[in-house]
Amino acid sequence: MRFHELVEARRSVREYTDEPLDDETLTELFDRVKYTPTGYNLQPQEFLVLREDDRQALLRECAYNQEQVTDAAAAVVVLGNLDPAAHADRVFDDWLDKDYVPNEEVRDGLASNVEGWREQPAEENRVWTVRNSSLAAMTLIYAAWEMGIASCPMEGFDAEAVRDEFDIDDGYEPVMIVTLGYAEAEASSPSKPAKFRRPPAENVHEEVFVPHAE
Ligand SMILES: Cc1cc2nc3c(=O)[nH]c(=O)nc-3n(C[C@H](O)[C@H](O)[C@H](O)COP(=O)(O)O)c2cc1C
Repeated sequence: MRFHELVEARRSVREYTDEPLDDETLTELFDRVKYTPTGYNLQPQEFLVLREDDRQALLRECAYNQEQVTDAAAAVVVLGNLDPAAHADRVFDDWLDKDYVPNEEVRDGLASNVEGWREQPAEENRVWTVRNSSLAAMTLIYAAWEMGIASCPMEGFDAEAVRDEFDIDDGYEPVMIVTLGYAEAEASSPSKPAKFRRPPAENVHEEVFVPHAE
């Protein structure tokens, strides 16, 4: 499937068949998702994958009872690490090994710069991790679709409830829920036409930003 076909055919799917998602399929899926880009390649994203009925039911309670959380074969909580430097050493060692930086001094400078972000106001690191982890969620959605797996991204959940119920400590931000499973035919394309999208003539701005008036 070409990317333009994939992007046009994808739908948010809320009704799924009973077919489960097996370990092998999930492994293949997340092996593709790992290539998502992140700022400085720092990779704050974490994925809490729920496939057990009682765990999905618990998540549904945190998600204002949205049915797709339990109807789907899996519900994934995308989490963002709030510590930008959590993986910095491995990331910048790799840059040095592969000549993405010229020497150890540059490598160390980058690592200490990112470590300095730990002192930023918490809100800045929250924005940083939400930005990066959201891209990972998008990769998950498209990678899944290419494998025939439908999804629904979800922001409709109580992040504090998710933290409490799933023992997620303060170092991580619950960023998004993504349900995954095989779509009921009538809940997906081509049965479901694509929803309205604002045309590029309205929201693509050349050189100067002038918001479009309705
Ligand atoms: C960040 C984000 C949050 C969303 N949250 C929810 C949600 O909580 N519940 C839901 O049913 N759909 C949710 N959606 C799905 C949107 O309603 C859907 O993407 C939009 O209507 C466009 O439809 P399409 O994805 O089928 O093209 C969310 C989508 C995004 C990108």
